[in-house]
Amino acid sequence: MPTNERSGELAVVTGASGGIGEQIAAGLARTGATVVLVARDRTRLDLARDRIRRAVPGADLETEAVDLSNLAGVGALADRLGERAPSVVVSNAAVIAPLDDRTPDGMHRSLVTNHLAPYLLLRRLAERPTDAPRRFVVVGASPTGLARTPVDLDDLDPRSGRGLGWPPSFRPFVAYARTKNMNAMFVYALASRLAGTATTVNGAHPGIIRGDLGRDTRGALKAFGALCGVLAADTVTGADTPVWLATSREAEGVTGEFFVKRRAVRTAPHTTDPERVERLWRESARLVGLPAEHVPSPGPHPTGS
Ligand SMILES: NC(=O)c1ccc[n+]([C@@H]2O[C@H](COP(=O)([O-])OP(=O)(O)OC[C@H]3O[C@@H](n4cnc5c(N)ncnc54)[C@H](OP(=O)(O)O)[C@@H]3O)[C@@H](O)[C@H]2O)c1
Repeated sequence: MPTNERSGELAVVTGASGGIGEQIAAGLARTGATVVLVARDRTRLDLARDRIRRAVPGADLETEAVDLSNLAGVGALADRLGERAPSVVVSNAAVIAPLDDRTPDGMHRSLVTNHLAPYLLLRRLAERPTDAPRRFVVVGASPTGLARTPVDLDDLDPRSGRGLGWPPSFRPFVAYARTKNMNAMFVYALASRLAGTATTVNGAHPGIIRGDLGRDTRGALKAFGALCGVLAADTVTGADTPVWLATSREAEGVTGEFFVKRRAVRTAPHTTDPERVERLWRESARLVGLPAEHVPSPGPHPTGS
């Protein structure tokens, strides 16, 4: 049964139709919050909602079937959710798409789903005024693993595979890894703009977790993914740090940090360099059609400082 700790509050989880996102949604539902599950596939969403209801009797769940690789759909989702002032938003959806998999806007599906969609969604929500404490969590990936794949700020949308290494079957993974570095850079950029407001923004690595992330991969990359799956932890473990960041007293007021196993860690210098962080912010604004300037929402800092 849910506790009533967060009853009346609204939480949103993207990529909640399976894997880690489903367990994040279940963890938030246990606190009594109403949880909106976002993913593309209506049938998978309904199945996930039913599984969570069985695991958390009395869970208050809603579903939003939205393709986050379509920026117009992300904007419309931000409008609908913004009206309802969610107190928790966990951006978790991600894909490892083939390099030739392009979105309706003509960009690589991994770039849009994994980085531009959370950029647009969280920016649009952050710009809505609120006095109430609000926590944004962006699910990234391993800072250690990602140290070797800096974002190429001259080539955010890798059309050609240029600079994505060898063998070719691994290139979609390198492109994905770069979007995961973008997640950390976005956390730092948004948190600095929201400093002194009631909204906190943090990133989290879920761990190496059994899931479906490699479903569109091929060749040597597919085999590598299967090998990693043998050593991987379960999705409940993967949900632990994101849910802790979204709900715990310990994480109250903490912002602009990246966490692994509930501990703040340093990400690679290429993700924290202020010039690179700002360049990514501006270039992302251009790609999603927002002005580079961010209008911070008013409201007291949760710690009162
Ligand atoms: N698994 C790991 O070892 C690992 C390691 C490091 C980081 N992570 C991160 O953890 C997060 C979750 O990974 P996971 O392993 O749970 O992946 P997963 O099992 O593949 O789940 C991904 C979720 O994202 C949704 N999604 C994908 N494309 C979407 C789109 N265009 N629009 C809306 N929803 C979309 C999928 O739903 P539908 O397909 O039903 O739409 C699904 O619910 C990701 O951010 C990933 O980068 C995972």
